[in-house]
Amino acid sequence: MKSLNPILMSGQEVLPLIEGGKGISVSNGESSGAWAAAGGVGTFSGVNADAYDENGDLIPVVYHGKTRRERHHELVAYAIKGGIAQAKIAHEMRNGQGRLHMNVLWEMAACEEILHGVLEGTQGLIHGVTCGAGMPYKVAEISARYNIFYYPIVSSARAFNALWKRAYHKFPDKLGAVVYEDPWLAGGHNGLSNSEDPTHPQPPYERVLALRKQMVEFGLNNIPIIMAGGVWFLREWEDWIDNPDLGPIAFQFGTRPLLTQESPISSEWKQKLLTLKQGDVFLNRFSPTGFYSSAVKNDFLNELHARSQRQVAYTTAPVGDHERPYEVGARKRLVYLTAHDLTHVEQWVAQGFTEGLRTPDSTLIFVTPEDANQILTDQINCMGCLSACLFSNWQQTDPYTTGRKADPRSFCIQKTLQEISHGGDINQQLMFAGHNAYRFASDPFYADGFIPTVKQLIERLQTGN
Ligand SMILES: Cc1cc2nc3c(=O)[nH]c(=O)nc-3n(C[C@H](O)[C@H](O)[C@H](O)COP(=O)(O)O)c2cc1C
Ligand code: SF4
Repeated sequence: MKSLNPILMSGQEVLPLIEGGKGISVSNGESSGAWAAAGGVGTFSGVNADAYDENGDLIPVVYHGKTRRERHHELVAYAIKGGIAQAKIAHEMRNGQGRLHMNVLWEMAACEEILHGVLEGTQGLIHGVTCGAGMPYKVAEISARYNIFYYPIVSSARAFNALWKRAYHKFPDKLGAVVYEDPWLAGGHNGLSNSEDPTHPQPPYERVLALRKQMVEFGLNNIPIIMAGGVWFLREWEDWIDNPDLGPIAFQFGTRPLLTQESPISSEWKQKLLTLKQGDVFLNRFSPTGFYSSAVKNDFLNELHARSQRQVAYTTAPVGDHERPYEVGARKRLVYLTAHDLTHVEQWVAQGFTEGLRTPDSTLIFVTPEDANQILTDQINCMGCLSACLFSNWQQTDPYTTGRKADPRSFCIQKTLQEISHGGDINQQLMFAGHNAYRFASDPFYADGFIPTVKQLIERLQTGN
């Protein structure tokens, strides 16, 4: 295995090894501080991070506002407080070593306000901002204002081209690196575009080479590319290291660092990772952001999948084959189904899936009365965590609704990610993971349930294993 040379990142030479940001509260002050202390780059998630009171106890996130907008403002205040708290913990822990970055999602609600709030309150503690999930044009300007570096996360050369030409070329000195995140393999949300087939993964080399060529055109030959998604053993990436065609390269890990002593996830979650098999991680499109995402197949995802399977198209007047009347909801509004679909509906109703819920695509899905009630309650309790939400139809800007029907095939991502990161049942919540997570089970490093410290993991990574 080639030795890994240090790389200049956010103004300091560090190991080219990075822990990717993971929300909500999955990469935090402790995990990111440990990555930096070991000489790499730690990234804490600035997405609704945990805050603590003066006794060091977790401040429970409780909303008092009566409207979504009021709760949205509470959420933003919690997020700023949490981001500052995690940055301070990480700063203490890193002990002057490595670099510390903060991760935000461009499509999270009030992303700019939260960035300003946290960066204002942590001057000198954070060295860079990583940002994906959308087109974060403004992250360059905001980072430059606080004299720190910015790290766009892209899944294609085309996306970087658009970001550079429209906004980033004005702030070339503060571009820390470009993160290429493999849209087929990385954990969390994935940047698959409409022209890319989720069932036909493209190998990353050609795509990263295209990104480098694009960057060279812009004079960014020496700006590192950070390869994220599907990286496990670095010996499998030897031809990427010191490769003159690719230029300076670093590697970002999201899934492997889940299984470290400093990782804040529950021990049930850690144990589950050790048992996953190939195919247990599932690329799906249920997220209320509209993006694809990768998570472990469990009861939570199975239920969403089943809900979407119990789906039929309807019309509001008899049209063509849609001639069989059906009464929907408490008001028993008439819709029209095909005869074939009606037989399915009758079977689902007989099985207890008695409630037909309308979707924005003129379809009905069928769920139990308890699930229908939960969906409605979750939609009512929305606290406006996204700039626009498919599940609740919340939109952060006036008129505060997307104008589309709320989609019961999706779910409240804020609720489930808060639950799983605070000890909730790992079968009943969304468990993000990368597609390589099955490798925990066969990687000898984790034999007999061994869970390394971050320092041990970073030493191990450098051996190529
Ligand atoms: C549990 C989990 C949560 C994640 N959350 C985020 C996030 O909030 N923001 C983000 O930019 N990336 C997120 N990611 C992606 C990681 O930062 C990283 O780029 C990715 O996991 C790398 O691929 P790997 O999973 O194959 O290691 C998440 C990944 C995981 C596994
Ligand atoms: S319903 Fe949507 S916008 Fe509202 S809190 Fe949940 S995920 Fe966020």
